[in-house]
Amino acid sequence: MSLRARRREAGDGSGVLEARQLFGGYGGDDILKGVSLKAAPDRITVIVGPNGAGKSTAMKALFGFVALRAGEIHFDGVRIDGLPPEDLPARGLGYVPQERNVFPSLSIEENLEMGGILRPKARGAALERVYGFFPVLRERRTTPAGALSGGQRQMLAVGRALMLEPRLLMLDEPTAGLAPKVIDEMLDLIRAIHKTGVGILMVEQNARQALEMATHGFVLVNGADRYSGAAASLLGDEEVLQAFLGG
Ligand SMILES: Nc1ncnc2c1ncn2[C@@H]1O[C@H](COP(=O)(O)OP(=O)(O)O)[C@@H](O)[C@H]1O
Ligand SMILES: [Mg+2]
Repeated sequence: MSLRARRREAGDGSGVLEARQLFGGYGGDDILKGVSLKAAPDRITVIVGPNGAGKSTAMKALFGFVALRAGEIHFDGVRIDGLPPEDLPARGLGYVPQERNVFPSLSIEENLEMGGILRPKARGAALERVYGFFPVLRERRTTPAGALSGGQRQMLAVGRALMLEPRLLMLDEPTAGLAPKVIDEMLDLIRAIHKTGVGILMVEQNARQALEMATHGFVLVNGADRYSGAAASLLGDEEVLQAFLGG
């Protein structure tokens, strides 16, 4: 059965991700203290907030890497909290962690092939699609990922997640450590990916720039979503501007 057919059978086809009142952490005190959020294929949803607020923990929890003490996560009409992370890509959810998101000793193309390993027959078409978004990856396809620039490595990490054609792509700080020009380029590419019908749920330190391209936003503070709503209304909120976006 094809991946698409399997997906139709498994879920409702909406590609909507919804988390309700997540509590949990790494075994000690809760890091997540009531996170609720939603993402969907027709949205670019951005999570912003101070360092240590729990943004990465929330992303890990959504993808099943952090044990929840309470709360529910639904994706594509199916309850996914408690499912192992490796079940999620085939359901249409992709995740690019903040760190160590490529295999440094494998070439670009080998990294992409690892990303597509669940779909050997569609490999060629998926590679073409990724190289279409990121032509520089094709040019350098035999280069080990460890030898790439920061920007190219992030492109590879995103490309790897795209190999299984996610409905929704979770990106944890895709522009971290990149030069301003490369940040612009990366965000433009994310917008281009979204235009092909892929929902984006993204954590970003470049809060203002990210909210400007987003449809929806969440401000996460101390493990809970303090503000949420349309990105434009967050950008127009004096309190949010003063406290989190540098005035
Ligand atoms: N693997 C881990 N084990 C224990 N504590 C962790 C781990 N990862 C993060 N933390 C703690 O969880 C809190 C939130 O971290 P994180 O989710 O990485 O924040 P953010 O992404 O918003 O900067 C911090 O206090 C951090 O020290
Ligand atoms: Mg983080």
